[in-house]
Amino acid sequence: MLTDNITRDESGALLFAGQSVNALADRYGTPLYLMDEDRIRQNCRMYLEAFRDYFGEGSRPLYAGKAASFRQMYRIMAEEGMGIDAVSPGEIATALSAGFPAENIYYHGDGKTDADIAFALDKGVGCFIVDNGDELISLNEAAEARGIRQKVLLRITPGIDPHTYAAINTGAVDVKFGVPIETGQAMEFVRAAMTMENLDVAGLHCHVGSMVFFENVYLRTVDLMVGFMAEVRDELDITFRELNLGGGYGVRYTDDDPHSDIPARLREVAARLKEKLSAADLPLPNFLMEPGRSIVADAGMTVYTVCSVKRIPGYKSYVITDGGMTDNPRYCLYGAEYTVLHTEKRRGLRAIYDLAGRCCESGDIIQPAISLPVGTHRGDRVAVCTTGAYNYSMASNYNRFPRPPVVMLRRGESFLAVRRETVEDVCALDI
Ligand code: LLP
Repeated sequence: MLTDNITRDESGALLFAGQSVNALADRYGTPLYLMDEDRIRQNCRMYLEAFRDYFGEGSRPLYAGKAASFRQMYRIMAEEGMGIDAVSPGEIATALSAGFPAENIYYHGDGKTDADIAFALDKGVGCFIVDNGDELISLNEAAEARGIRQKVLLRITPGIDPHTYAAINTGAVDVKFGVPIETGQAMEFVRAAMTMENLDVAGLHCHVGSMVFFENVYLRTVDLMVGFMAEVRDELDITFRELNLGGGYGVRYTDDDPHSDIPARLREVAARLKEKLSAADLPLPNFLMEPGRSIVADAGMTVYTVCSVKRIPGYKSYVITDGGMTDNPRYCLYGAEYTVLHTEKRRGLRAIYDLAGRCCESGDIIQPAISLPVGTHRGDRVAVCTTGAYNYSMASNYNRFPRPPVVMLRRGESFLAVRRETVEDVCALDI
C-alpha cells in the first residue's frame, strides 16, 4: 500500500489507521474526510526529534496551518510542542480558540491589512514574518501606537527554482512573495527594518516552494541565505539570531512518487548550515522550518459514495461520486495525482475510469484514468488517499454543496473534529 496506515482485512475491505473505512462511512456519512491523528503526531515527532538532534536548543518546526486548519489540529500542535505558521486572522483565531499559545505563532502573509496587523498585535502573536516594505512601515507604526516592540522576521526571496509546479513555486526572483536578494532590494529591506524602533528584527525567512523532492534544493537555499547573512554582517554590522527556511518537503501521492527521508534531509541541511556559517564566521542561529504537507498529507483520506457509473462506448467511463472539486480542487488546480481505492473489492477484472464529482462543470474531476474493479456500481464506496493536506483547507461551497466533516482517528477510536455542514449553514449568511 501507498502508506502503512492504509491496509486491508482478510476479506479485502479497506482499513485506515486500522479502522474499517466502510464502517466509518456508515457512521459519519459521505463525502467524508478521515484524519489519522496518531500519524499526525508521529510526523510531528519525526520533525521535533530531528530538530533537537541536529539543530539544538531554540530551533524548532512550525506547523504550516494552511495545510489543514481546524481546532483539533492546533490542540495536537500545542500538545506536541510545535510552533505554528498562520496566514490570516482566521487561522490565528482558530489556533487561539483551541488554546494554542499566541507567542508560538509566526504570522505570514504578503497582503496584511491594517486591520490584520492590529488583530495580530492585539492577540500577542509571537512573530510577524514581514513580506514587504509597506508592511514594515505599517507594522512599526501600529507597534509604536501600542507601545510595544514586535519581534519580526524579514521574508527574503533567494532566487531558487525548486522544480515543482508553477503555482507553488515561491522561491524564484519574480514571485509575489518577499524581497529578492538578486536585485539588491533585500539589503535595502534589512537596512530599512533596522531603523524601525518598534521592531525587533530577529532574522530572515524564505520559502522556496512546496512538493519539493530534489535533495539539493534546501542545501542551495542554505548557501544563498548564509551568503546573504554574511553580506548583511559586512555591510550593516548585524548578526541575526533566527533563520527560517519555510516548508515544502514532498509526500507520496502515488506509488511513483519517491519516499522522502526527512530526518536524513534535515541532517544534511544542518551539516551544510554549520559548515557555511563557520566558513563565514557567523554563529548558529535558531533554525526554523514550516512543514505543512509532510505533517498531515498521509494522515488524510477522503471517502465517497458512488452515485453513477457512466460508460461512453469508444470514449471513456466515469465513476461519479457524491463529492468533487468542492472537497478536493487539487487536480483541477494543479493536475495533482492521487491514488484511488475501492473500499471492498480488490481482485478480478479492472477498468479505467475518470473519478468525477457532482459539480455542474465538466472539469469537475477528482482524478482521471484511475483503475477500479469492473462492476463498481452506485452505492459502492471509493477512497482517495493522501488527502490530509490542502483538501479540507481548500474546500469550497461551489454549487452550494455543504462541506464534508473531518473525523479524527485516534488509537482505534473515531470522533468528529469538524461537523458536516448543512444546507442551512450554506445559506446562513444570506440576508
Ligand atoms: N511556509 C510558507 C511560507 C508557505 O507558503 C507554505 C506553503 C508552507 C510553509 C508549507 O509548505 P508545505 O510544507 O505544505 O509544502 N495549495 C497547494 C500548496 C500551496 C502551498 C503554499 N505554501 C497544494 O495543494 O499543493
